[in-house]
Amino acid sequence: MLETKHTTAVSSPVLRPIRRSPHLREVLCLLAAFAIIGQFIFAFQYCSIKLFPEATNDHAANSTLGFGGIYAVSRKGSPRRQSLLRAASLTNLNVNIPAQPAWTDKDLARIKAPVNSALDRGSAMAWLGHRNALEKFLKSSHDTALIMEDDVDWDTRLRTQQIPQTAYAIRELLNSRPGGYYGDLRSWDIIWLGHCGDFFNASRGSDITSIKSFHDPTMPNMDELHPWTKGFLQEIGANENQQRLVHQSVRPLCTFAYAITRSAAERVLNELTIREPTRHRDHPCGAYDVRLLEGCRDEGLRCISVNPELFHHSNIGSEIAQMTEDRRTDGGESEQEGAGDSPTTNIRCSARSRRWRELQDSITDPSIDAGILVRELAELSKDCYIDGL
Ligand SMILES: *[C@@H]1O[C@H](CO)[C@@H](O)[C@H](O)[C@H]1NC(C)=O
Ligand SMILES: *[C@@H]1O[C@H](CO)[C@@H](O)[C@H](O)[C@H]1NC(C)=O
Repeated sequence: MLETKHTTAVSSPVLRPIRRSPHLREVLCLLAAFAIIGQFIFAFQYCSIKLFPEATNDHAANSTLGFGGIYAVSRKGSPRRQSLLRAASLTNLNVNIPAQPAWTDKDLARIKAPVNSALDRGSAMAWLGHRNALEKFLKSSHDTALIMEDDVDWDTRLRTQQIPQTAYAIRELLNSRPGGYYGDLRSWDIIWLGHCGDFFNASRGSDITSIKSFHDPTMPNMDELHPWTKGFLQEIGANENQQRLVHQSVRPLCTFAYAITRSAAERVLNELTIREPTRHRDHPCGAYDVRLLEGCRDEGLRCISVNPELFHHSNIGSEIAQMTEDRRTDGGESEQEGAGDSPTTNIRCSARSRRWRELQDSITDPSIDAGILVRELAELSKDCYIDGL
């Protein structure tokens, strides 16, 4: 019916000039054809991001998540340290906390851009803290390290379920299965496991070349994700519930947790983050995480993002913001101890929830090792065990 009408319309007197101009019509036809083919290609590539089969090898990762070591960026006397170590112990992670020097005003001034600096005190200390962790990593003999900030949270099934799946997806993405746990170490620089968003318009077709996606039953449901994360996933066609992606980074922000190879750490230390780059006052760099984003986006670092993220900062208040307000260098040890019950963004089963501690304390039978029991409930439950408490 529609076609008949259309034909009638085309032959109507109003459109005669088009009929008399075969060139224009051919061009229009060609354009329409290209548009249709283009849409078809987009639809094929992006409208629905296909899941690939789950890993058959579902052994838990080791206590350093398949990296050489895990290093936390944490200043002396950080009120977050104790709950970080407790969460690490709950989920069988071996986390190093390298000592940080007490940064002096001179140290802070040294890394600020000489003009138009946008580094506030908290961000400058974070910048130095990340550099310190990278230096400690390079003093070790490890090939890779995971650097995390001391206020991050993760799912209790990180080591047992999430990392094995994610590492498999990354090996697929890099097409280097016979290599290491995360594929050939020569084929990546940074794996962004924890961030506050790497959002892009894949439908534009230019942002990304490939995406590997897998079903992750430990992920929050679509409606429980941060609205921006949910919007992003739906926009790029990852419409299935609990669909996690790995892909080349586009513009990942926030350095909650990232894995880095030795050669990349050398480059970040000796080239990219020696100090805040001098910029026009309207476009400052302003923070270590922005510098790392620039490294990935503009300066040749080969970065991979896990999306949604596996680490996100817990809702215990931003120390950077707080320090900037208070200009404090030392905080009380007990303050902010343990995450509250407000859920961590995009993390389903919080390792930092104080309910794990409460559960452990409630087990009073002396014949039971409460620590081991709670650890098993945390790491091996299909669902989030503390939900029901
Ligand atoms: C974990 O696995 C990685 C990669 O195989 C290895 O380099 C690292 O030493 C292992 N860590 C531990 C604690 O066994
Ligand atoms: C995606 O594209 C739309 C339309 O061009 C734009 O409004 C939106 O901000 C873009 N999103 C991102 C994350 O770049």
